[in-house]
Amino acid sequence: MSDASSLYHARIAAGDLYHDDAQEAVMPEFDRIGSGLAAAPVKRGLFRKKAPPPPKGLYLWGGVGRGKSMLMDLFVDSLEGTPVRRVHFHAFMQEIHAAMHEARQCGVDDAIAPVAADVAASVRVLAFDEMQITDITDAMIVGRLFEALFAAGVVIVTTSNRVPDDLYKNGLNRQLFLPFIKLIKEQLVVWELVSPTDYRQNRLQGSPVYFTPIGPEAREKIHIVWEHLTGGPASELVLQVKGRDVIIPQFRNGVGRANFYDLCGKFLGPGDFLAIADAVKVLILEDVPRLSRSNFNEAKRFVTLIDALYEAKVRLICSAAAEPEMLYVEGDGAFEFERTASRLREMQAEDWGS
Ligand SMILES: Nc1ncnc2c1ncn2[C@@H]1O[C@H](COP(=O)(O)OP(=O)(O)OP(=O)(O)O)[C@@H](O)[C@H]1O
Ligand SMILES: [Mg+2]
Repeated sequence: MSDASSLYHARIAAGDLYHDDAQEAVMPEFDRIGSGLAAAPVKRGLFRKKAPPPPKGLYLWGGVGRGKSMLMDLFVDSLEGTPVRRVHFHAFMQEIHAAMHEARQCGVDDAIAPVAADVAASVRVLAFDEMQITDITDAMIVGRLFEALFAAGVVIVTTSNRVPDDLYKNGLNRQLFLPFIKLIKEQLVVWELVSPTDYRQNRLQGSPVYFTPIGPEAREKIHIVWEHLTGGPASELVLQVKGRDVIIPQFRNGVGRANFYDLCGKFLGPGDFLAIADAVKVLILEDVPRLSRSNFNEAKRFVTLIDALYEAKVRLICSAAAEPEMLYVEGDGAFEFERTASRLREMQAEDWGS
């Protein structure tokens, strides 16, 4: 079994990664956790009392594209044989809410305890990507949930764009959330990744982000960009907007991927597009067709989507039937589309969003 540092150095040696002092500096933390886990195997029965305590986890935070998710993935890969679950924080919380709902249906009053016990029974390490708390229903349960997970010996490693003190900033009833921040600071090593380099931006620099026409060539090129940016298996990301599910079919490490009709062919409105723009740092949107009177509703949604992405400074990579200015040339709304076309152009600039 290799530790996370060795995997990191091997990837640098292979030319996959650039050496980065800030990344290098945090590797001993991952190695500490890895060896702590190896030294503290789960012991049952008679030996249980003698088992050393599990290592402290890690809260790795910093600016976008610094390599937090990539390092966490390396760490997860280094834990061969240890039951570990790497999951997007938002997806995890949705599962928790669903499990708590089910437990309550079965007459359980305090649903957090059994749900946390179930989680703890199946993993030793939880690796969360993108911890952020915006929802009051999450804010009100994470404290007790994490307390139960820590008490059960689960080691938590997480990435975030925010320092713990800024979690759920300006949230409703925030004072009830403060014990969670205290718990995080006590139970995890809080580490800021201060690299000056936004590698995601770097990876996009110099490579085209708008592919036309649609066809096997565009599909292949988009696929290469996706692999280059994510480098691992994707999963669906389900966002809850006003009690409804809004689905991004593929998601990993801040990058979402969808087909035009996945987002613009459904009954989605501005609130949904804002939620999508909020959830991704890069959106890959494939197969944007020519727009006209015949697909007016789809075109209108596309305009709203681009506005939301533009405001949120999300990088957009897309394949389309034509150049932006030629996508929508006739029919109601063609005039308004000029702004969208201009935004699509602007969003192609190398330094856009940085
Ligand atoms: N040292 C490096 N050399 C080359 N590429 C890197 C390096 N570090 C990270 N990358 C790449 O940069 C991209 C962004 O990295 P990653 O997704 O880990 O950033 P992040 O810190 O998690 O960003 P965010 O806060 O937006 O989630 C990924 O494609 C990743 O593989
Ligand atoms: Mg990330």
